[in-house]
Amino acid sequence: MTTVIAVANQKGGVGKTTTTANLGASLAALGQRVLLIDLDPQGNLTSAYGLERKVEITVAESLLDRNTPLPIHTIESADQHSISVVPATIGLATTEAALMTKLGREQRLRDQILAVAEQFDFILIDTPPSLGLLTINALVAADKVIIPTEARFFSIQGLQMLEESISEILYLNSSLKVLGILLSKLDRRLREERAVSTYLREKWGDTVFSTEIGTNSKILEAGSAGASVFRYSGAEKAAEAYLELAREVISRV
Ligand SMILES: Nc1ncnc2c1ncn2[C@@H]1O[C@H](COP(=O)(O)OP(=O)(O)OP(=O)(O)O)[C@@H](O)[C@H]1O
Ligand SMILES: [Mg+2]
Repeated sequence: MTTVIAVANQKGGVGKTTTTANLGASLAALGQRVLLIDLDPQGNLTSAYGLERKVEITVAESLLDRNTPLPIHTIESADQHSISVVPATIGLATTEAALMTKLGREQRLRDQILAVAEQFDFILIDTPPSLGLLTINALVAADKVIIPTEARFFSIQGLQMLEESISEILYLNSSLKVLGILLSKLDRRLREERAVSTYLREKWGDTVFSTEIGTNSKILEAGSAGASVFRYSGAEKAAEAYLELAREVISRV
């Protein structure tokens, strides 16, 4: 059984791409067959795998043309399990506009994923910081959604907006479930962050993952260097946190 997970939050900079990359690497380290799909025109996930200059066909072409299968690049590594990536570039921004006139525009990614799903145990989709057609495609294609969030008061409002969008998506994808809300860059030294994390757990209960990812400069540095925390020296503690998240994800699906 393949599980398709959209990593979504319309708020920018909350850790969607970092979560997708490091959770993906952790699931792969646990022996799962993992595909990561970059659905963000910023292409941050694509850059993290150094694919931005190497690719001609991206997810954009597969969304526009049903006969172009998802371009899957398998990244082999000596010390790690291999992981597969579907890249995106800035051209995806124009694709989002072009899709508006296409039939079945919200289901395009789902149809393409169905064709390759059986090759993978987990397919993770990184989404842009908006609730536009690209994020809708991810949510329609997904079985589950992971919502990374900061523990700030302004984030709570954003979570409510996202919940409303997800209930709209149920008309197109009635089986979509929130797998969990993830505190993805929690700074326990800050009183506001401790208060908001307590509030989130009171309001959303078990929906909030028990695993918390703390702010950690190694996560930031690894991200800037284009590496997962598994390939970045000094990031062992961060890698352990993402492995714990991966175990929790596996136990929830
Ligand atoms: N736990 C963490 N500790 C420290 N830095 C983090 C952590 N998680 C993410 N970051 C950093 O925060 C920044 C934003 O993270 P990321 O790019 O993953 O967010 P995003 O939600 O994908 O952003 P966007 O909405 O622009 O796509 C990055 O510089 C990343 O390295
Ligand atoms: Mg991102």
